[in-house]
Amino acid sequence: MNLTVAQKIIKDHIVSGEFKKESEIGIRIDQTLTQDSTGTMAYLQLENMGIDKVKTKKSLAYIDHNILQAGPENADDHLYIQTVAKKYGIYFSKPGNGICHQVHLERFGVPGQTLLGSDSHTPTCGGIGMLAIGAGGLDVAVAMAGGEYYIKTPDVVKVELVGKLNKGVSAKDIILEVLRIYTVKGGVNKIFEYCGEALKYLSVPQRATITNMGAELGATTSIFPSDKVTYEFLKAQGREDDYVEILADEEAIYDESIVIDLAEIKPLAACPHSPDNVVNVCELKDIKVNQVAIGSCTNSSLVDMMKVAEILENKTIAEHVSLVISPGSKQVLNMLAANGALAKMVSAGARILESACGPCIGMGQAPSTGGVSLRTFNRNFKGRSGTTSADIYIVSPEVAAVSAITGYLTSPENIDDSKISMPHKFLINDNLIVPPAKEGEEIDVIKGPNIKDFPKTEPLKDILKGKILIKVEDNITTDHIMPSNAKLLPYRSNIPYLSEYCFKPCDPDFPSRAKEFKGGFILGGANYGQGSSREHAALAPLYLGIKAVIAKSFARIHKQNLINNGILPLTFKNEKDYDDIDLMDEISLEDNFKNLDTGLFVLKNLTKNKEYEVNLDITSRQKKMILAGGLLNLIKQNNDIGGK
Ligand code: F3S
Repeated sequence: MNLTVAQKIIKDHIVSGEFKKESEIGIRIDQTLTQDSTGTMAYLQLENMGIDKVKTKKSLAYIDHNILQAGPENADDHLYIQTVAKKYGIYFSKPGNGICHQVHLERFGVPGQTLLGSDSHTPTCGGIGMLAIGAGGLDVAVAMAGGEYYIKTPDVVKVELVGKLNKGVSAKDIILEVLRIYTVKGGVNKIFEYCGEALKYLSVPQRATITNMGAELGATTSIFPSDKVTYEFLKAQGREDDYVEILADEEAIYDESIVIDLAEIKPLAACPHSPDNVVNVCELKDIKVNQVAIGSCTNSSLVDMMKVAEILENKTIAEHVSLVISPGSKQVLNMLAANGALAKMVSAGARILESACGPCIGMGQAPSTGGVSLRTFNRNFKGRSGTTSADIYIVSPEVAAVSAITGYLTSPENIDDSKISMPHKFLINDNLIVPPAKEGEEIDVIKGPNIKDFPKTEPLKDILKGKILIKVEDNITTDHIMPSNAKLLPYRSNIPYLSEYCFKPCDPDFPSRAKEFKGGFILGGANYGQGSSREHAALAPLYLGIKAVIAKSFARIHKQNLINNGILPLTFKNEKDYDDIDLMDEISLEDNFKNLDTGLFVLKNLTKNKEYEVNLDITSRQKKMILAGGLLNLIKQNNDIGGK
């Protein structure tokens, strides 16, 4: 049939639409995952869908983001998620069990199945040949309720890996190289599928580092075949029964292809403030480092941690460096403790953090003002660390560990970590996974005072009129739109509170302006809404009365989140018109929306007495959502979740 791995899985799961370029297809979802910062909303939405139990093969609710408990808010959210999960047939991963993607890869992911997660790094499980896609919480709630998930038939990019990595160069450098080539905008509507002779040298955790950070390309997902290496990993996890071989056909047809010679790659760093701002570490001279943070869903596997421990053994970190390490899961931490590697880290001066997202999401460990932090994470957007003036460099665990010792950004070219490889048997103990309720067991869902309902939306009105309440540049991230830090994360289930901080890094007056003028429009640049799957970046503007976002282009997940919540995502026919519109210009869209079919609208600038053409590039299914004022309204209106 000449199919790629991704195409095989899609064809196996397609329930609506035609598998052809540009066409929208609906796919059946086998598994879902949520994390706590997006999960509360997803479960509030699920409760509104009128089902008794989830319809997926397996659904997981992880607690890994909001684990600081400085007040009762996080604990209240955890209790809500734990009880709602038990009631609806969802497995609950307690705080301390680890980062959702790391745990899912270890214990639940199955090759050949589909996974939809309310976290943009869900593609991590592409490392074991799953079609794993990040989405907004509402899409995940619909999937749990048995509905299909819709994507545009993606192009498949063949990434052929040849040659062998040099010492001190790792999987992180491979994905940084791909980011250097494709940039944060280069993956939209694409699946990056890896193949080639070098795959035999890449273990599942290394593959998962690559698929994880493929999210930064803006890609639909990334995937590796399910092969002997996958089998070895699943066997070591005691899950060999989950193995199924999935290889691309020899004559598989790809839409694009690149070849990367691993032997040519040097240790790389993504410089401030974008994951695609990639240069060779050896070209970055005399960068004094204040903080080194090792962990996150990208680089917290056992092998990553063992390499770090090996580099730190019998060394002391530099006087001016704070080194923090978060092992990715309880399994990883347990094994590090058992094999002595943890002692090597502690002895060198590392501070060991809980197995959770931690500093990656700004949950503690914000760098000093103007400080330099090296992180093995996946994102270095301005302010994400909790310190707007800090410079964050994204690097491999090897670069991070060596630099923690020298105190300067240092290339690890001469280290030999070849003795460290994936174990043949992982330590298996799932006692922090709480199973769903048994048949007939009564469960009370507990909602503390921090859990507020999500904003209500109304069907689309004929005339949309209002002011441009904010004008932002290209590559605005969901971190800009709805910041996420230790102070705000506890309020992820409280949109009225969160909305006060909407666009704070760009324009702190935006919320008060939006309230004063009772809503209006957002003017955005290219790739608007890149970054996380955070639905709150649509919900907070919705709460503040935003009717439409007019941008040069949108990031995939954010565009869907806007549509799901009844906000129009409009793009300029002529991008230059962006320059013509200013903050506080009065805008109107008076089309009675009769052109919703063609997608073209006339946007009137009443202040400047000008007109611009804008495009609403949506499918007929999305059109119904927009007209109903969002997906939840549509589901209620039709009493139909979809899915077959
Ligand atoms: Fe968590 Fe950071 Fe990954 S917030 S899920 S470790 S991107």
